[in-house]
Amino acid sequence: MGVSRGGFSSRFGFIMAAAGSAVGLGNIWGFPTQTASNGGAAFVLVYLVLAFCLAYPAFMAELLIGRYGQANAVTSLQKMSHNLWQKRFAFMVGFGGIIAAALILSFYGILAGWMMSFAIDPVVRLFGFNDAAQWFVNQSLARNLIFTALFMLLTIFIIRRGVEDGIEKWSKRLMPMLIILLTVLIIYVMSLEGASEGLKAYLQPDLSRVFDADLLISALGQAFFSLSLGTSVMIIYGSYISKKENLVSLGAQVTLIDVSIAFLAGLLIIPAMYVAQAQGVAIFAEDGSLISGSNLVFTVLPSLFDGMGVMGLFVGFAFFVLMTIAALTSSISMLEGPVSYAVERHDMERTKATTYIGLGILVLSIIIVLNISFMLDLVAMISTQYGQPIIAMLCCVFVGWIWYRNSILAEIKQGNDDVENTLFWKIWPWYIKFVCPTAIAAVFIHSL
Ligand code: TRP
Repeated sequence: MGVSRGGFSSRFGFIMAAAGSAVGLGNIWGFPTQTASNGGAAFVLVYLVLAFCLAYPAFMAELLIGRYGQANAVTSLQKMSHNLWQKRFAFMVGFGGIIAAALILSFYGILAGWMMSFAIDPVVRLFGFNDAAQWFVNQSLARNLIFTALFMLLTIFIIRRGVEDGIEKWSKRLMPMLIILLTVLIIYVMSLEGASEGLKAYLQPDLSRVFDADLLISALGQAFFSLSLGTSVMIIYGSYISKKENLVSLGAQVTLIDVSIAFLAGLLIIPAMYVAQAQGVAIFAEDGSLISGSNLVFTVLPSLFDGMGVMGLFVGFAFFVLMTIAALTSSISMLEGPVSYAVERHDMERTKATTYIGLGILVLSIIIVLNISFMLDLVAMISTQYGQPIIAMLCCVFVGWIWYRNSILAEIKQGNDDVENTLFWKIWPWYIKFVCPTAIAAVFIHSL
């Protein structure tokens, strides 16, 4: 066992770190993209409801498991187990989450690398090297390898320093920067021609689509991905929170920040697409839907920036720096999952564990880059569409069915004395036992 575990030094530090994990490419890229391809505001509406009604309760379960166990995901889950069978089950769930985090990092690092290289392109062009700049935005093996490695090294650099000096310090620096950049970009885009039309498309719901099964599935998947559920990450972050803190409100604040930033990102991206259209860029695919996915981020938006002249260089730079920051505060949390396990269960030194595991994941990323056409989507699908929902569901089962209600109450009461009399305690235990696992299972089975 590690001698002294790290921990977050302040409430603000935890909120920034957990929000940093939650706010990532999923918010700024995934959410607007999903909104674009699922009928605009109808998707936003469903997402908001599901994020608070299903993802938040599941998020609370993971935070509680960690704070109770004061350890990595496997050890924490095992502390709640009462017999050998349950301990084995705990190992499967906890270790499964750790593997999911590692797999997500292996493809996330590649996407984040693209964001970094797209951020460098405008800088190179500002100095007049237009031809050289092409290298940064064109797909090539060399570029993908170099930038994936660079991004992984940044992630390793932060995690090596531990919880307070690494995760907390960097999240406290990067998250405010992210919010400022996002706000400045929104204000700028809103002042351009075409933005108001985009705003309308974003905010006027087509209510007939609200109960569309595909829309529901996409929204739930997006909400779980966004709160980093089912990956052991929120368990380990929960374990670094002081027992004096009120978990119910901390969890709610992080959820609120996560949802708000996704909403703000939509306020940037969808209007930006319509501005691009006003400048003659095609924003609708052949079937009439808004262009989404990687074409949106790497084709539509760059053509918009190109049309803005010199100003576009700055806007493009700011946008891709924003993406890189969002990705980095998430990637550090993904690496922390496996690292905390190695440190606490196998007595490894933190710096060594970080370097070995980080490089191991980089090797996996390289294998994916070498087979990018089929492996990128495959690994993303296995880890996010299968791994995350299944493990998040099993965490709910653990809390609802294996952990004793009295122990849950005792844990949640710390830092929140009269939780027993709150609406939260009246609804949540029942919710986590029946509603969350059933809803997750239903959506999961439907998506097969
Ligand atoms: N929440 C992150 C985002 O929105 C992505 C993510 C998914 C994640 N699973 C995770 C981050 C696990 C950290 C750990 O981009």
